Amino acid sequence: MSPSKQTILVTGGCGYIGSHTVLRLLETGYKVVVVDNLSNSSYESLRRVHKLYGITAASSSTSNFEDASLPVETLIPFHQVDILDREGLAKVFEFHPEISAVIHFAGRKAVGESGRIPLDYYNVNISGTVNLLQVMDEFHVRKIVFSSSATVYGDPPRIPIPEESPIVASMSPYGRTKVFLEHIIKDLCVSSAVKQQEYLKELEVHPKDHKKVYNYEWSAVLLRYFNPAGAHPSGIMGEDPQGIPNNLMPFLAQVAVGNLEKLSVFGNDYPTADGTCIRDYLHVVDLAQGHVAALEKMDKEQAAGTYGCKAYNLGTGTGYSVFDMIKAFNKAVGRELPHVVTARRPGDVPNLTADPRLANRELNWKAEKSLDEMCADLWRWQRNNPYGYNTVHEKN
Ligand code: NAD
Ligand code: WQD
Repeated sequence: MSPSKQTILVTGGCGYIGSHTVLRLLETGYKVVVVDNLSNSSYESLRRVHKLYGITAASSSTSNFEDASLPVETLIPFHQVDILDREGLAKVFEFHPEISAVIHFAGRKAVGESGRIPLDYYNVNISGTVNLLQVMDEFHVRKIVFSSSATVYGDPPRIPIPEESPIVASMSPYGRTKVFLEHIIKDLCVSSAVKQQEYLKELEVHPKDHKKVYNYEWSAVLLRYFNPAGAHPSGIMGEDPQGIPNNLMPFLAQVAVGNLEKLSVFGNDYPTADGTCIRDYLHVVDLAQGHVAALEKMDKEQAAGTYGCKAYNLGTGTGYSVFDMIKAFNKAVGRELPHVVTARRPGDVPNLTADPRLANRELNWKAEKSLDEMCADLWRWQRNNPYGYNTVHEKN
């Protein structure tokens, strides 16, 4: 099916990665439905998606954007539903029988918090996802892209990290939810292939008992994101963390606008060149495109009669230290931001750098944007929106 015919349900579509992905889906010709309980986001992000889609449409010479004049509620149908609410989810699928696949972002993601309230994390991330998978199965929607994380690799034995690296040693309850969910989705795919074989045998024996022929097989792509950062280059959409950010780049951005005094660098005694941890920072717009690539890959495979589950690293393949990131962001901002070296943060590992070659090859996807673009885009977003989506803009 061509993208323009497909409707994708995006859970967590109001969040940081979700909102950038919703925009990318619309730009590539998909239709979308969004489910979010707004526990870590606001509806304003979808208004911004709508606005940006309109801007893209106005500057496009093709007629692919005729829906750009639709109001936001029509362009992006939104349902404020918690993924723990099975009936609520079922109603969304009932209301939108056109949904053909799901991109599943919804869940809780704060590593430190997950150590304090693990049951909440297991409940939302695991029970919520199992609910979603059950409802999808009930409605014969058996195609999913799942947000996994580089955290599933724990402290990996080898850098850059290939997908076959063990995923048993994750450092936090949050990380373990991703490990368990990867297993759950794989198990579902395997069992669905067996079910389909049995069903096909039954069809051969009693063809008349079956008025409609179903396909029970699942397709899944597990995307292991490394460190998403940056914002849409327009400065209109970006990350809007609630409270004090846990992550390096949004923290630095808040120091730059004066909301926070200084950055604490968590340890400079790691076994790396400058003693600070190395991560693989990936522009959120590149990451959004990774989801479109995953959908396209599953479509191609399904057309060839192939189903199943596969994991991919989404990263650039280049690691940067905390000091490298401070330097790069200072350059974007045009001044030195204050920082102080403090103790290590429990659970941090020295180096998480992706080997992204499998995604490059099989998803036909590659991170395109540079570190400088990432920092410039983050700064544009934060400078224009010092209080995120709550920033009050003067009317011209
Ligand atoms: P986010 O918090 O901005 O987005 C998640 C969205 O899910 C939010 O809009 C939130 O309101 C919604 N949500 C939370 N609980 C929900 C529930 N019970 N029912 C319905 N909606 C719910 O986070 P993000 O950074 O956009 O991350 C998206 C996904 O990617 C998450 O699954 C996260 O674990 C994963 N991930 C994120 C990162 C990262 O660094 N941002 C890295 C790796 C993986
Ligand atoms: C990056 C580096 C810190 C904040 C986390 C999750 C991971 C994924 C991405 C969801 C580390 C250092 C940070 C600060 C610092 N999320 N740092 N001062 O820890 O690599 O990954 O987000 O899935 O699962 O674990 O990202 O941005 O928190 O940290 O020095 O105030 O910056 O020690 O070396 P991390 P991060």
